Amino acid sequence: MMLISDLTTAVYRIYSIFVYNLFLFFSSITQMQLSVPCGLKNTSSSLELLKPRVRGRVRVRVSQISPFSSHHNNNNNKTLLMNSQFPCASLVQNNASPIPSTDIQSSRFGEVKRVTKETNVSVKINLDGTGLADSTTGIPFLDHMLDQLASHGLFDVHVKAAGDIHIDDHHTNEDVALAIGTALLQALGDRKGINRFGDFSAPLDEALIHVALDLSGRPHLSYDLQIPTQRVGTYDTQLVEHFFQSLVNTSGMTLHIRQLAGKNSHHIIEATFKAFARALRQATEYDARRRGTVPSSKGVLSRS
Ligand SMILES: *[C@@H]1O[C@H](CO)[C@@H](O)[C@H](O)[C@H]1NC(C)=O
Ligand SMILES: *[C@@H]1O[C@H](CO)[C@@H](O)[C@H](O)[C@H]1NC(C)=O
Ligand SMILES: *[C@@H]1O[C@H](CO)[C@@H](O)[C@H](O)[C@H]1NC(C)=O
Repeated sequence: MMLISDLTTAVYRIYSIFVYNLFLFFSSITQMQLSVPCGLKNTSSSLELLKPRVRGRVRVRVSQISPFSSHHNNNNNKTLLMNSQFPCASLVQNNASPIPSTDIQSSRFGEVKRVTKETNVSVKINLDGTGLADSTTGIPFLDHMLDQLASHGLFDVHVKAAGDIHIDDHHTNEDVALAIGTALLQALGDRKGINRFGDFSAPLDEALIHVALDLSGRPHLSYDLQIPTQRVGTYDTQLVEHFFQSLVNTSGMTLHIRQLAGKNSHHIIEATFKAFARALRQATEYDARRRGTVPSSKGVLSRS
């Protein structure tokens, strides 16, 4: 008799645990659906969003463009992850010309191939990336700096370059920067809803570099780095200014680079790229209060 009563209790307990879990499961589904960020229902099935990993992020299908995420995603049907900070306001229908919801589908991606007698450069940039860095320019120090741009800007940056580096790094450095600027210009599109301005000071040990930039459409560089040595590794430190001047020219950016402190050439340059990456990230990110409008009193940001 004892045994049967124990068995009944055990069965009852298992049953109530099952019912309780079923209740938890359904109430969590209801909660999750309520907390799905706006705009998501347009871009993917809500079932996908129930995966905890994906919660709080927007999964966008991209089929037109060719995201270079192919090397870490063998599926031909690629998806890009975007931050949930993507402005809900962009979907709001009002008179302030919001970004149409189709703009969300086309991620901010720029791709440039640039072939000259001196170089052969291919650049792909995803402004809404995750910091994937994949750059081989033939100039190891420049690769290292482009990695900073990706990881601190949270951009996906892919640069392949084959140039006449047997002469020197000048042409390759310039053409890589010109192509990155053009890719940036392409990725920014009409610049609707972005912060436009970016400002960051990055320290690296004794070095402290301040970068302020405006995605105004007007190219301008002010640069005052005092790099004490002629070279870092094999890289000619004069090429740093040339790199930023080239990038500024093709992207249509107003860029100020100030050295607040620094003695070590490597530190000064690396802090510059880090500060630039963070400032650019700030400037390219969306301002939710802007509701998808062009951040200019003139209503347009052009390169002229
Ligand atoms: C990608 O997905 C879409 C819809 O989800 C489907 O129609 C299409 O056939 C897929 N393409 C590939 C190459 O898998
Ligand atoms: C440029 O490089 C690509 C591969 O990276 C190659 O297919 C192409 O032929 C090259 N073009 C020239 C003009 O060297
Ligand atoms: C950038 O543009 C300015 C003004 O048009 C020009 O003088 C300069 O040579 C350009 N520099 C580079 C590196 O393209």
